[in-house]
Amino acid sequence: MSGAAAPPSAYVPGLEGVVATRTAVCKVADGELVYRGYHIDELAGNAEYEEVAYLLLHGALPRREQLREFKAELVKHRQISPLVRDLIRNMSESGTPMDVLRTVISATSLEDPAEGDNSEGADLRKAIRLTAKMPTVLAAYIRRRKGLQPIPPEAGLGHAANFAHMALGDQAHARAADVLNTCFILQAEHGLNASTFTARVVASTDADMHASVSAALGALKGPLHGGATDGTMRMIDEVGAPERAADWVAHAIQNKVKISGFGHRVYKTHDPRADHLRRFAELLAKDWTGPKYFEIQEAVADAVARQRETAKESVRSKLGVVNVDYYAATTYTYLGIAADLGTSLFAVGRIAGWCAHIMEQHANNRIIRPESEYTGPAGKRWVPLVER
Ligand SMILES: CC(C)(COP(=O)(O)OP(=O)(O)OC[C@H]1O[C@@H](n2cnc3c(N)ncnc32)[C@H](O)[C@@H]1OP(=O)(O)O)[C@@H](O)C(=O)NCCC(=O)NCCS
Repeated sequence: MSGAAAPPSAYVPGLEGVVATRTAVCKVADGELVYRGYHIDELAGNAEYEEVAYLLLHGALPRREQLREFKAELVKHRQISPLVRDLIRNMSESGTPMDVLRTVISATSLEDPAEGDNSEGADLRKAIRLTAKMPTVLAAYIRRRKGLQPIPPEAGLGHAANFAHMALGDQAHARAADVLNTCFILQAEHGLNASTFTARVVASTDADMHASVSAALGALKGPLHGGATDGTMRMIDEVGAPERAADWVAHAIQNKVKISGFGHRVYKTHDPRADHLRRFAELLAKDWTGPKYFEIQEAVADAVARQRETAKESVRSKLGVVNVDYYAATTYTYLGIAADLGTSLFAVGRIAGWCAHIMEQHANNRIIRPESEYTGPAGKRWVPLVER
């Protein structure tokens, strides 16, 4: 023992507040979400998803001709190959949505002509191919698991309308295309969230875009991240009725259960995406004849707000934020999209943001390699197996 005091630890659990990169793609601050200089409120309700994907990938909104070309490229790459179709068919009976999406999107690298090329041009072309194919893959899976043939993409339809057409056919809700368009925009990008950070770490090893996106899909699945959309729907089903919400929430908080759709690492008071989604959920609930999901959800939100008043400070700040996943869950359900598909739908929007970050990482790379603080034993000596 030297007697010298150990140096102060730089360890920050969960990397809270740590600035791990610089980015021109997106700014996330409390109550504020900005894509390349445009506040999300400027884009949601005004833009098409394709314009926002272009903005994220190129850094500026497209002019008319640029948008026309970008859309044409997306349409050209919507088709999926026989290999991918077979994979989806083989997995659709037993695979969960996020496992299927991750596996299939990873498999598209086998057919990508630029696989392994991390140049800006190749990355951009791969970003377009991935953005174009993701909805086709998810829609084919949605149809297959219902025992239905996939509906091929329709070249005359925009990104969101085409997804609604492929996934829901003539059962698509009249508002499906415009609501999904805005949902995809709201979910397109979100700074250094866990899946985007994962994508950037993988890209920083000079691994390619497909490897990075596949890893991001793995990270998105977790219930603390994108999995909270599916988790919210499960919770609403479990609560079952608005009058059961208060007891359910009290029990959850007493037992330290994390309530899906509440809390955020960066937003301390307000998630700007949730306002848009709440409006959709409220609107679509009016025509819904099934269980009272929106009413249950509002009762849960009220109960959380009441519990918050007596919660300790660390929990109070989390319970004060209704996040993006909360009303996305009911919005999708009202559009006829099954409860377990919310996270995969999130990925269909987020792909543009992931690709923009991967390109930014490749363009100005240094391997991301933080350190760990060792807390295990020291000085142990080897003991032969017979003596242990
Ligand atoms: C988003 C989230 C992961 C942020 O995590 P974080 O910044 O690391 O916050 P912590 O988990 O450290 O939370 C601090 C405290 O609040 C509690 N808390 C956080 N979110 C909570 C929630 N949704 N419901 C109940 N309690 C919650 C934690 O249990 C913790 O309590 P403790 O101090 O007694 O240990 C977290 O709020 C959460 O798990 N939310 C639910 C899942 C979700 O909706 N995720 C989507 C995010 S967009």
